[in-house]
Amino acid sequence: MHNRIVEFQSLIDENLFKYFQSHRKELSLIFESMGYSVRNGGKRVRPLLTLLFCDACGGNAQKAVPMAEAVEFIHTYSLIHDDLPCMDDDDYRRGKPSNHKVYGEATAVLAGDGLLTAAFELIAAGCAEGLYSADVAIKAVSALSQRAGCNGMIGGQILDIQNENNPNADFNRLKLTDNLKTGALIDAACVLGCIAAGADEAKLSAASEFAYKIGLAFQIKDDILDVTSTLEKLGKLTGSDANNDKSTYVTLLGVEECQRLVEKLTDEAVSSLKSFENNEALVEFAEYLAHREN
Ligand code: IPE
Ligand code: IPE
Ligand code: MG
Ligand code: MG
Ligand code: MG
Repeated sequence: MHNRIVEFQSLIDENLFKYFQSHRKELSLIFESMGYSVRNGGKRVRPLLTLLFCDACGGNAQKAVPMAEAVEFIHTYSLIHDDLPCMDDDDYRRGKPSNHKVYGEATAVLAGDGLLTAAFELIAAGCAEGLYSADVAIKAVSALSQRAGCNGMIGGQILDIQNENNPNADFNRLKLTDNLKTGALIDAACVLGCIAAGADEAKLSAASEFAYKIGLAFQIKDDILDVTSTLEKLGKLTGSDANNDKSTYVTLLGVEECQRLVEKLTDEAVSSLKSFENNEALVEFAEYLAHREN
């Protein structure tokens, strides 16, 4: 692993859990439940992308930490809700029982709501602490809320639900679904890193181009692993998509063609990093993602 990746992994781990430590004792259940899902097992792909992009734009990655945490909180909330019985109905996540299996459905819904809200609290707090200007904070809130909301991740989740029992979902429909449900939040992660560094519009659009390529590759890889991996390796039960009669790239194209597509998209993603001076760690990370086993 590139030394930047190792360094930023520790920076994320040092900061990610602080939010769950200070609260009044009557509220311990909700903080414990949120902390349970954030702790352990997550690959931290999105917060790493935020810090790597900040660094690649010449910014100080320390200053992007609240934004990195915010994206990881929104991602974790999306997983808690995604696993609920009314959604994908999955009992394992990040190598342990899903949030609702431990805390019950009502607390799991609220833990997701709490993480979503906390994300914006963290970005505002980073500005109040003087890490970045109010202008940077507003740009970050605007970019993150657009991509996490109905024109982004939520929009993708609704299309994904509508794709259940729909064997006619074609390539374009699946691409739109994956771009929204997974690409949009990965885009938020990349763009927020650039915003924290005060980068210009050209850098933001290059980061988005990278993000949608890597995001699509990431979801296709997730769908491959759902067919080919195991609970032990993946930390979540496999066969989830088949159990829910989901149409995915894998049902449409098969595993081998999908892996070829993951590699092609990764190559294209890497080509869009040309305008970033310090891009070695990002290139290495993109390649690791294409061959990941969990
Ligand atoms: C899983 O994301 C959900 C998708 C969008 C594919 P990750 O594979 O990044 O999950 P964690 O964070 O490592 O648990
Ligand atoms: C998850 O897609 C996308 C979001 C949570 C936004 P999946 O449903 O394929 O993710 P896993 O496989 O449960 O992690
Ligand atoms: Mg799902
Ligand atoms: Mg799922
Ligand atoms: Mg999946």
